[in-house]
Amino acid sequence: MKLNVPPYIKDIKPYVPGKPIEEVEREYKISGSVKLASNENPLGPSPMAVKALTDSLSKLNRYPDGSGYYLKKKISKKLNIVPDSVVLGSGSDEIIGMLARAFLTPEDEVLMISPSFLMYEIMTRISGARPVFVPLNGLDIDLDAMADAVTPSTRMIFITNPNNPTGAMVKHDRLKSFLDRVPQDIILVIDEAYIEFVRDKSCANGLFLCTGDRPVVVLRTFSKAYGLAGLRIGYGVMPPEIAGILDRVRQPFNTSLPAQAAAAAALDDNLFLDRTLRLVHEEIDFMRAELKRGEEISFPTQANFFLVDVRTDANLFFTEMLKHGVIIRSMVSYGFPEYIRVSAGLRDENLKFLEAFKKVATKLQCKNNAGENI
Ligand SMILES: Cc1ncc(COP(=O)(O)O)c(C=O)c1O
Repeated sequence: MKLNVPPYIKDIKPYVPGKPIEEVEREYKISGSVKLASNENPLGPSPMAVKALTDSLSKLNRYPDGSGYYLKKKISKKLNIVPDSVVLGSGSDEIIGMLARAFLTPEDEVLMISPSFLMYEIMTRISGARPVFVPLNGLDIDLDAMADAVTPSTRMIFITNPNNPTGAMVKHDRLKSFLDRVPQDIILVIDEAYIEFVRDKSCANGLFLCTGDRPVVVLRTFSKAYGLAGLRIGYGVMPPEIAGILDRVRQPFNTSLPAQAAAAAALDDNLFLDRTLRLVHEEIDFMRAELKRGEEISFPTQANFFLVDVRTDANLFFTEMLKHGVIIRSMVSYGFPEYIRVSAGLRDENLKFLEAFKKVATKLQCKNNAGENI
């Protein structure tokens, strides 16, 4: 077939999601496997969200409210902002896409951390713009290097706080002084997909920078702490002028009726949110402590996942873990050849991870700096 595909589209490497559990089990002839690979909520969805979703099903013959009136009102009340500064998306992914469609041209550059969430690069390339990667400093976001990388062509900057896949966060005063160094016409997008999990009080809260006099956009999602990843609903908070531009490129019914209903109910489900945060914090601490034998091999995190240095090829480690029915993420494609990323699961799932980890590390003879088995 002869297709005329623009070169900047042809060059895009499609996002590779983890395989479905059923497929992994079939391939490796295993059952009862656990998935700790996609930073999902191990408790399931918020029960109040499920009830609201079920109640909404009898109205599926109707189009959803394209303006998302009630959900936007609820979000704005909770965050103490005006409803016109909220844009809903089919996941926060979609808001990244809208920003790229609305503001980027092939002449533009977009700054992003490397490694970070892959959708920034994909959406930038779809617009024909050029992604510019700013490496981490160790595992930390290097805001000085980011500010130094700004050129007259820079149109947008993505900061992920806390970052995926590292779990590292940016402090408020650092982000504020970074913003002072950024020219006024550059859109700063602060992706806070994991902000609910943050324990460090000095972590930046992008909403304080989203005051209306600067083009700052904060992305939030219902996919993680609220347990609604499968429903695809997230939002952006931004000055109403930017929201007005996104409304020009947004599909009129981009978020479904059940998703709007469930998200609105999830916002009220404080009990579920509290349970989620308690579980994630306890389980992250538990797993990291269990992995530490003499030497620390995992890294501190502010999110619902953490990195582990397995001291061997992480792809190999990943495949061996699969054979034990444990799905985690290899960080090879993120530029960390010996790191894996593990999401917090339920205690049983985490015990299964730890048991498999021990077996795989022994089989692959993974050693710490002191030459002991990890
Ligand atoms: C940093 C970051 N931003 C955004 C998203 C996308 O979230 P959503 O499900 O709302 O599209 C993810 C999902 O993993 C993420 O890690």
